[in-house]
Amino acid sequence: MRAKQQRLYINIDHVATLRQARRGDEPDPVAAATLCERAGADGITAHLREDRRHIQDSDIERLKKSVTTFFNLEMACVAEMLELARRLKPQQVTLVPERREEITTEGGLDIVSEPERIQNAVDALSGAGIRVSLFIDPTRAAVEQSKKLGVPAIELHTGRYSHDPANAAAVDALRDAARLGADLGIAVHAGHGLNLQNVGMVAAIPEIEELNIGHSIVSRAVFVGLERAVREMKEAMDAARSS
Ligand code: PXP
Repeated sequence: MRAKQQRLYINIDHVATLRQARRGDEPDPVAAATLCERAGADGITAHLREDRRHIQDSDIERLKKSVTTFFNLEMACVAEMLELARRLKPQQVTLVPERREEITTEGGLDIVSEPERIQNAVDALSGAGIRVSLFIDPTRAAVEQSKKLGVPAIELHTGRYSHDPANAAAVDALRDAARLGADLGIAVHAGHGLNLQNVGMVAAIPEIEELNIGHSIVSRAVFVGLERAVREMKEAMDAARSS
């Protein structure tokens, strides 16, 4: 059976990182989101971090108004962010762990040892009509716990694979977690560290419906432009699915 087409959501934080280098207006991540959509992105992802190092609150407000595909807000599971999400109502929130000193999101949410905090957040967001996804490590325990928390979607952290694509155990973990998630009726997304060279293996996993990719696309855009960088990634994903 041929796998369904996979969605590509572009994380535009990295455009905001460049803007914040000068604390000015350019490049504008909201304009970048529009270009990504024009080039075939199926959705836009932005991470509002507690330290506001790249995306700002006003970007989220503007994205909410301008994104015409699907808007996925990544955020930590803290009161300030929950309040903001309930006010701005993105279509989806992906809950991610966050430590101020980290350079990027380094591991999945710890949903096994602190389920109550996550459950309260899931309930509050779902109650506001927001679809909730949890960014988790690709382990059976985390997938099973996600099922208990009642979320409709999970995003598997692909970092271990993307840092070492030859690591067969990392590949197996992603395949196994994706299959389990689908068997449990959870929509499976994936992302982190994916680029044109390593995306094929993840894109070929039939249960993975959506990829969230940021850094490599924005980096490639510096040389070839954003629209071409998005199109190249979609082509690489489609090729992996049809081979
Ligand atoms: N998914 C999540 C939950 C993330 O936190 C990130 C990093 O911002 C990504 C996907 C995208 O990772 P990258 O920028 O390495 O493509």
